[in-house]
Amino acid sequence: MKIPDFKLERYFAKHEFTSKYLLSSSDCDGYELKYVLECASKSEMELWEGMKLGYTESEGNPLLRDAIAQFYNNKSIENVVVASPGELNFIAMNVLLDSTDHVVTVSPCYQSLSEVVKTIGCEISYWKPKPENWEFNTDDLEKLIKKNTKLIIINFPHNPTGSYLKVSQLNEIVRIAEKHDLYIFSDEMYHKLMIGDMQELPPICDVYKKGISLWGTSKTFGLAGLRIGWLVSQDLKFLHSVVSYKDYLSICNSAPSEILSIIALNHFDKFLLPNIQKIKSNIRLFDDFYKKHKQINGFIPPKAGSTAFVKLNIENSSLDFSNKMVEEAGIMTVPAEMFEYVGKYIRIGFGRKNFSEALVEFDVYLNKL
Ligand SMILES: Cc1ncc(COP(=O)(O)O)c(C=O)c1O
Repeated sequence: MKIPDFKLERYFAKHEFTSKYLLSSSDCDGYELKYVLECASKSEMELWEGMKLGYTESEGNPLLRDAIAQFYNNKSIENVVVASPGELNFIAMNVLLDSTDHVVTVSPCYQSLSEVVKTIGCEISYWKPKPENWEFNTDDLEKLIKKNTKLIIINFPHNPTGSYLKVSQLNEIVRIAEKHDLYIFSDEMYHKLMIGDMQELPPICDVYKKGISLWGTSKTFGLAGLRIGWLVSQDLKFLHSVVSYKDYLSICNSAPSEILSIIALNHFDKFLLPNIQKIKSNIRLFDDFYKKHKQINGFIPPKAGSTAFVKLNIENSSLDFSNKMVEEAGIMTVPAEMFEYVGKYIRIGFGRKNFSEALVEFDVYLNKL
């Protein structure tokens, strides 16, 4: 099976480890191993020190699945499968879909949410927000449903726009899915990064029997390097198929990552709260910053999550803008082209502690243009 390049990940591969400032990252700074271990209880420390580096259980360490299950209504480990987030997305689509199916996905989106579906051969329709406020309208979604629609893919908090739904809108999506007997794959990678005053959405698996929730340690926890994610669903047959498919990919998870994830989940606030604080304070900095620069054409602060999609007032394309800035000033931004979005936008990521320093350099760069 051939799949086109993942443009955004290739762009990161080119610049992430050579640029001085990352202004577009969607994750929060990675915590140090020392910090994670300092959070550990005595029994978690024993688990860490006694860990064996052999193969692990395909579904995920039962202690980890139990720690994950505590975040959902259905607290059984049977409903949880652990793998890396990208892998879980890839497997879920392959398990659920045939080439004759139609799928509706949010757009702009993290490319794997559309590309895997297209590679399977499915017909795809895009549910798009209004660019004035990045709000998604559920009436628009319902109009996209066809006879052969099998799956709706959503992602709230939304990457890249920072859009979020009201609980009533999520209920409406569930109503549409129920009416047409559809699955909902809900990419909840930014779950619990609540930075505004909107009510937190329940995970889709808690409110819909054909709902599949994806979450992991990369964004909310500041532990992207663990490569740990999980699917939670009431549909056990689906989850068993995911585990079987995984035998052709990673087979099982890395034992150290599993144990570090257990510690992070059991001491959740120590990971979440510093990230929320950092994101909120960086949003305030950017809100002051953008008003001073004519090249930035308005700012819609994220309602939840760690990113915003910011419109530029420039002559050339956003790709050209980002390429020049990273080459000339070592500041990396992700342009709209990486999301197949037409228009001059860049993603801004608020999860990094050197954000204020990056803004100083960004200021110098924009003033020189
Ligand atoms: C919406 C969304 N889903 C999934 C992922 C994949 O997460 P990971 O990089 O941990 O595999 C990302 C990463 O940026 C994302 O933004």
